[in-house]
Amino acid sequence: MRLVLVGPPGAGKGTQAAFIADRFGVPKISTGDIFRANVSQGTPLGQEAKKYMDAGDLVPDEVTIAMVRDRLAQDDAAEGFLLDGFPRNVHQAAVLDDILTELGARLDVVLELAVDDEEVVRRLSGRRTCRSCGHVWHLEFDPPSAEGVCDACGGELFQRDDDRAETVRHRLHVYAEQTAPLVGYYGERGLVEEVDALGPVAEVTERAVAALERAA
Ligand code: AP5
Ligand code: ZN
Repeated sequence: MRLVLVGPPGAGKGTQAAFIADRFGVPKISTGDIFRANVSQGTPLGQEAKKYMDAGDLVPDEVTIAMVRDRLAQDDAAEGFLLDGFPRNVHQAAVLDDILTELGARLDVVLELAVDDEEVVRRLSGRRTCRSCGHVWHLEFDPPSAEGVCDACGGELFQRDDDRAETVRHRLHVYAEQTAPLVGYYGERGLVEEVDALGPVAEVTERAVAALERAA
């Protein structure tokens, strides 16, 4: 299965991507995660990306597209993949079409996770990420048992720089302007499955898996 996950910041893309990729046996390719790994390793790519990420803006297309092109050419993506956070605008979507054509492949489905802005703010203000293993927690919805400590590995939890309230507002604006048009772009081809992303994580996963099984 070749799948794109789309939805506003904090919709639960990363959370659901882990379950869905596992369920369908495909690699999860998250551009946000790849950028953040580069930022924490201090690579040139990370240094370039950080200034855009901290401001809540998109990293320039040429940087992002080159990175995704390389990743999709790797062997483990040959039979399928889940893209989380890419494409992020219509230009990236058009280039993805070209890359897939070159690889002799095509997208099967675009899963849209739908949440309202109020829920986005609630989810992002409470999000905490483990510095050691990357696990994502939520202070209210999925709290670690000890404050500031990851239950999975004992690592330290931190709040993402781009989860500050004013940056979240900007990211929502960027989503509405640049990313939401993808729903129309892919909708014309009948590829979009919209899933209500409100409610407990496991229920959203069930809805997503049901939609994907219908589409496959
Ligand atoms: P990226 O990392 O992709 O950020 P995003 O799209 O804003 O999404 P988030 O990671 O904030 O949220 P999510 O939907 O994954 O939610 P999560 O599962 O964590 O991108 C970051 C930046 O990188 C961009 O701003 C840009 O600068 C750059 N970038 C990335 N891709 C790019 C591209 N293609 N082009 C250019 N630039 C790019 O959940 C959020 C919280 O809610 C968590 O705490 C979680 O525990 C909780 N939660 C999840 N589900 C539920 C639920 N059902 N109920 C209650 N709580 C829940
Ligand atoms: Zn951890």
